[in-house]
Amino acid sequence: MKALKGEIISNDKISENIYKMTVFSPYMVKHCIPGQFVNIKCSESTVYDPLLRRPFSIYDVEEGFKVFSILYLIKGKGTKYLKSLEPGDVIDFLGPLGNGIKVDDKSDKKYLLIGGGMGVAPLFYLAKSLILKKNNVFLAAGFKDNKFIFFEKAIQLLKINYQFFSEDGSHGAKGIVTDFLNNHIDEYRDYTIYSCGPSEMLKSLKEIFLRNNIKNKAYALFEEIMACGIGVCKGCVIKTIDKDNKYIYKTVCKDGPLFELKEVVFE
Ligand SMILES: Cc1cc2nc3c(=O)[nH]c(=O)nc-3n(C[C@H](O)[C@H](O)[C@H](O)COP(=O)(O)OP(=O)(O)OC[C@H]3O[C@@H](n4cnc5c(N)ncnc54)[C@H](O)[C@@H]3O)c2cc1C
Ligand code: FES
Repeated sequence: MKALKGEIISNDKISENIYKMTVFSPYMVKHCIPGQFVNIKCSESTVYDPLLRRPFSIYDVEEGFKVFSILYLIKGKGTKYLKSLEPGDVIDFLGPLGNGIKVDDKSDKKYLLIGGGMGVAPLFYLAKSLILKKNNVFLAAGFKDNKFIFFEKAIQLLKINYQFFSEDGSHGAKGIVTDFLNNHIDEYRDYTIYSCGPSEMLKSLKEIFLRNNIKNKAYALFEEIMACGIGVCKGCVIKTIDKDNKYIYKTVCKDGPLFELKEVVFE
């Protein structure tokens, strides 16, 4: 991890309240792996409001251009500041942060990626990295409405199999992604699973895997509210349980954001 500055190459609105920012950073391109994130200072250099940096998953990396990108949903002060930036502006960030996903050099494995809402952001870079190593990837994702049609277009370029759902039926099949998995779980018994989305979705996934006695590895990327982003303040801890049934609090920013679903205690 390094404190870095990167020139913004583009910062475009791609859907209602959703933006994609691309940043020039040879260091990030060389060192980051899927599932990691950057912690961005969301104000001018001399201004400290908001005081805390804001974390965003790495959405994509384009090695040839030495750029990485993030996908962000406008929420409050920090993301409104990001939206105001233009190509040529420079952002100040820490990265790459967190314990991400080391994509194996061995190919021909099967991976199931499950996303919910903005939780699809880190899954694009993961899917792209897995496909580059010639693995078999299936992506299932669920949304409230049709704001993520742009994401389907991006996924189509990777030429992987996928199924999308929306609660109102305006994008993909009508329904929720966890119902789909509940009904089709037997088809994925030999897949390694990675998921990212709201914590209710991750909790349901854990229950589905337990109920169906899924023995394969199932991981999730967690998105707790953070402060320091580097394991110091303990502001982002989640409760986990080890093999001796002992509770351990772990930091999402440093021990995670990747955890095995079976070790996380949902309360
Ligand atoms: C590891 C990690 C990766 C993330 N990746 C992405 C990403 O790729 N794209 C993206 O749009 N967002 C992502 N987030 C969430 C993002 O960090 C928050 O949306 C952002 O910090 C909001 O900042 P703000 O100043 O605009 O809003 P604030 O004013 O700080 O907050 C506005 C509202 O958002 C809520 N909020 C703030 N932080 C979070 C959070 N971490 N999770 C859920 N709700 C939050 C607040 O409680 C509040 O209600 C990620 C978070 C983590 C921890
Ligand atoms: S945000 Fe400080 S320890 Fe995770």
